[in-house]
Amino acid sequence: MLCCPFSRGEMINGHTQLFGIIGRPVTHSLSPAMHNAAFTELGINGVYIPLQPTNLDQGFDGLKSLGFIGVSVTVPFKVEILHLLDRIDPVAEKIGAVNTLLFDRSDPAKILCTGYNTDWIGSNQALAEELVLEKSTVLIIGAGGAARAVGFGLQEAGARIVITNRTESKGRDLASLLGCPFVPAAEVAHVQADALVNTTSVGMEPHNTILPIASELIGRFAVVMDIVYAPLTTRLLREAAAQGCRTIDGLKMLQYQGAAQFTLWTKRPAPHATMREALLRVLQARSS
Ligand code: ATR
Repeated sequence: MLCCPFSRGEMINGHTQLFGIIGRPVTHSLSPAMHNAAFTELGINGVYIPLQPTNLDQGFDGLKSLGFIGVSVTVPFKVEILHLLDRIDPVAEKIGAVNTLLFDRSDPAKILCTGYNTDWIGSNQALAEELVLEKSTVLIIGAGGAARAVGFGLQEAGARIVITNRTESKGRDLASLLGCPFVPAAEVAHVQADALVNTTSVGMEPHNTILPIASELIGRFAVVMDIVYAPLTTRLLREAAAQGCRTIDGLKMLQYQGAAQFTLWTKRPAPHATMREALLRVLQARSS
């Protein structure tokens, strides 16, 4: 860690760069801890704060006029914010949702906002630690926004994907959008895939004893990733490890999507270890 004679509060001054997250609710977001730890580690005079706009359009105007450089976007604004952007990254456009804003202030008379989606970068990087994506087939459980980002991301990387989902119609809709097969839950036993990714909230506290797939099917996959991170070791990951699978916890995707945001905003490599430690510290504090 860089040695700094000031506490974070004392460092905030007229030159402090503003970053934040907009969502509703945002009180439980882990992103402030992750990004503020990264600023401290690299000695960047920046601050990242949670913001809960009562009105998205007005909130967005506020970010523009108050000098924000970069902002994370979370539920329920990831799609609703699209109409406010000046530009959108091509993959974010395909996904149809953004989780990152970057304000270009080079011309103060015309501040331009570009929307990105780093969720897919986060899931690809997490999976790439255990898989060669372009040679792999991945079974995705779920058909919501997270499944969409994970699915488009894997296709960007050249992986083959298969979708399964509790509600068949929603699963089929996403599969047809992605141009990939859909498999009903009852037929998952017939899927040949290298990896399994749970993109649903199944297994999240307080319902942490529920599995998103039958226990006897988990060992069929070499790699199992869960996007649920509370608890960090979900029942899915515990059973996967016991059945000999390599596992990837939900903090990895969160950490890597945050790291991609950090680099977009600061143009500097993200301090990965510091960001993960900050996430773990908050989770630990919450569970004790
Ligand atoms: P997100 O944007 O976070 O992905 P979402 O759009 O609400 O959230 O999608 C949630 C996904 O989790 C859906 O695929 C949902 O399945 P349905 O389409 O059947 O609703 C899935 N999901 C949520 N709770 C579930 C449960 N108890 N069992 C199985 N699937 C569940």
